[in-house]
Amino acid sequence: MLKMELGIESLLKMAWVAAILPILIASFPSSYLNPVHQTLLVFAGRGKIIQSSSRLNKLTVPQKFFSHFYGFAVVWTSFLLLTTWIYAHKIGSLVSESTSHSNVASYLTGGSQVFSIYKTYSTSLEHNFGIWQAVFLLILMEIQVLRRLYESLYVFNYSSTAQLHICGYLTGFFFYTAAPLSLCCNCAPEVFTFVANTVAEFIVKGKNRMPPLEFQWLEFLTPLLKLGWFQWIGAVIFFCGWLHQRRCHAILGNLREVKEEAKDYRIPHGDWFEVVSCPHYFAEIVMYGGLVVASGGLDQTVWLIFAFVVANLVFAAAETQRWYCRKFDNYPSNRYAIIPYVY
Ligand SMILES: NC(=O)c1ccc[n+]([C@@H]2O[C@H](COP(=O)([O-])OP(=O)(O)OC[C@H]3O[C@@H](n4cnc5c(N)ncnc54)[C@H](OP(=O)(O)O)[C@@H]3O)[C@@H](O)[C@H]2O)c1
Repeated sequence: MLKMELGIESLLKMAWVAAILPILIASFPSSYLNPVHQTLLVFAGRGKIIQSSSRLNKLTVPQKFFSHFYGFAVVWTSFLLLTTWIYAHKIGSLVSESTSHSNVASYLTGGSQVFSIYKTYSTSLEHNFGIWQAVFLLILMEIQVLRRLYESLYVFNYSSTAQLHICGYLTGFFFYTAAPLSLCCNCAPEVFTFVANTVAEFIVKGKNRMPPLEFQWLEFLTPLLKLGWFQWIGAVIFFCGWLHQRRCHAILGNLREVKEEAKDYRIPHGDWFEVVSCPHYFAEIVMYGGLVVASGGLDQTVWLIFAFVVANLVFAAAETQRWYCRKFDNYPSNRYAIIPYVY
């Protein structure tokens, strides 16, 4: 089990590093015109910042396909959240070791063998804490992807001609597969084994001979309330970014008067737009910063998600800033690209 855990975690770390490296190489000032920078510009192109001169940009899909990977993200994150939450509830609370023993024991006396392999883990409160923390992080992620799905369907007025490069489209699927999984990779193998064993047990025994699933809201919620300060401070930071991103997306969505048709662009005003050109990207960075804090700040995989989000969005913001300055002669010169008063 531990081997499998390390396997998933290492794979995810390698995937994040592989995704971050090309963006870093392309972002070095000396490489501004280099082939990596140019290729990445094509691959990351969407909407107004898509490169129209490249042959590679024939490989595009409509930008409204953004909703596909948010739809996928909702299904995948909900699955991870639900199964991790049920598993966390089964394996024990954060109160005392005897509680976690008794939970496992009561499940075992219900006739199931599936938990014997988890017994070693259940003795560790620290391990239980990690599982409940993963539930907490997945709840935050779920709140984000649900809103993004709604926005991509009902808030943004994607022009009918706006395109997204196929690589950006696939990167979206990569991101929303790897990010929720990274938030729970400390316990994902256990959870998957639990799900597989429960399904197998269900098939073999049938519904009537399964141990009854007692559902009590308080038992599902109380351990979350007992998590530490890091988790709650992280959640506050996350919601600060979340609320501002929601506002900024509403501002962008209202810039076009005629839904679907217009390909017109305006200078956005209000909220963090007064300070930076891409406040919705900055808000995303704040949200993932919140997740880093909520994970306790020591989880390398969560740090790598954060690094990817920063690298990816700083790159896109730099291009957006150049586009605004080219497009509008009266573009406010005091606006930074993405990080207020820094960049
Ligand atoms: N986590 C990540 O790595 C990651 C990666 C990508 C995106 N995201 C998030 O997804 C969200 C959307 O990203 P995005 O890149 O699609 O945002 P975007 O390029 O700013 O576009 C959002 C929508 O607003 C429109 N729009 C933008 N500026 C406008 C203007 N000046 N006038 C009129 N309409 C304008 C766009 O039209 P056009 O399509 O015609 O430009 C598009 O329909 C962001 O909050 C971002 O943080 C996250």
